Amino acid sequence: SVPADLVIVANRLPVDRITGPDGEPMWRASPGGLVTAIEPVLRANRGVWIGWPGAVTGAVTGGSEAGMEPFEHEGLQLDPIALSAEEIEGFYEGFSNATLWPLYHDVVAKPEFHREWWEAYVAVNRRFAEHAADRAAKNAMVWVHDYQLQLVPQMLRELRPDLRIGFFLHIPFPPAELFQQLPWRRQILEGLLGADLVGFQLPGGAQNFVRLVRQRVGHKTHRDLVYLPDGRTVRAAAFPISIDVDNFEELARKPEVIARAKEIRDALGNPRKVLLGVDRLDYTKGIHARLRAFGELVAAGELDVEEAVFVQVATPSRERVEQYRVLRDDLDRLVGRINGDYGRIGSPAISYLHASYPREEMAALYRAADVMVVTPYRDGMNLVAKEYVACRYNDDGALILSEFAGAAYELRQAWLVNPYDLNGVKDAIREALHADEKDLARRMRTMRKTIKAADITAWARSFLEEMDIVRSAHGKAL
Ligand code: G6P
Repeated sequence: SVPADLVIVANRLPVDRITGPDGEPMWRASPGGLVTAIEPVLRANRGVWIGWPGAVTGAVTGGSEAGMEPFEHEGLQLDPIALSAEEIEGFYEGFSNATLWPLYHDVVAKPEFHREWWEAYVAVNRRFAEHAADRAAKNAMVWVHDYQLQLVPQMLRELRPDLRIGFFLHIPFPPAELFQQLPWRRQILEGLLGADLVGFQLPGGAQNFVRLVRQRVGHKTHRDLVYLPDGRTVRAAAFPISIDVDNFEELARKPEVIARAKEIRDALGNPRKVLLGVDRLDYTKGIHARLRAFGELVAAGELDVEEAVFVQVATPSRERVEQYRVLRDDLDRLVGRINGDYGRIGSPAISYLHASYPREEMAALYRAADVMVVTPYRDGMNLVAKEYVACRYNDDGALILSEFAGAAYELRQAWLVNPYDLNGVKDAIREALHADEKDLARRMRTMRKTIKAADITAWARSFLEEMDIVRSAHGKAL
């Protein structure tokens, strides 16, 4: 394959390889915010994306790597990396999602530390680095993404010192007090320092990182710069990520989508008010908090199930990881109890969908919802909140948003809530449901302006330009 000038390296490809009903391999859009954000960047810059094509058939079985050659999918150049069953267990389900994920999300769940998982993490990071080194043209840009691949920048720099290397963390970077629990904290920091530019969602993440580098690795730092003994400079800064706003709005304006939104409302028993939650089924997302708040309002007779319904879409995620199974069972019970106690024939209190839907259907749901409820306990950004705003081109609809989502720093006109404060969440639901049109329009208009001014194109441009600047400033005083 031809050497590429821009290489995106992320654990997951934008599509999963699955087996279709006829037994033939098929491609399906991957879950999660990273893919939503980065896909348009790759499209606009015509690079190659290196990643894993998902658990179902992305495992190397019996040494065969069928379907693992580079391929083109809807105009994107994709380069699959296969993981063995042991690697999926140790690197993906283990270290990435049972150690780093909970640790970086404020230990909302207890992280587990296992030396075998760490070894798998190192080995898989090395494979990604070697693959990127093979694929990148001379002086190319390689942009590494997220917590699964934090060692890649350093490994890649050793293999290919000519490259410009950037890293972006899509999830929060924790305070030193939590990060310090990690037995391999120093290796992770050194891994990231292989990049010219290390990007975070919020300034706080960048500050946490620089402070840790100073205290734990002993490098000199000044504001957002780290000075390495070999003369290199690394910059750590915030780049709050976004979505392709115009693309979502266009989708929401399609006649088919408008018609589908009406159909959804009718099916839910128009004129019932529709509250909506959309998340991967993840314990960081605070799905319990919002359903309990809603349940209490119904129990108290403040909301009648003939007048309001909560639609919760929970996309299946990381289903083999213990804490995700526990969460699923807990939620099943909670939804069952609320519906059992308060639902009526034809009017459940909660319409709970454990499924993933195409983007058109999501746009129709966003259009159908009166109130979008986003209540994570901790979230790097939360792009669902931005998708909802992008789809509300009539300046209507209300957004309830957790203070602990990165998006809360931009979407100030949402009803901001502390998801641990159930009374506060109930107040916000009450207010959002009863807000007058003018208030809603004023809030939505401002939020729409905000996201239009900082969409994914602007985000990618600012990161890539900055990567160039840091790199070309090497050796010179900054
Ligand atoms: C979050 C992470 C991504 C991840 C996505 C889906 O958005 O930041 O790195 O790809 O969740 O999770 P999964 O484990 O299915 O890739």
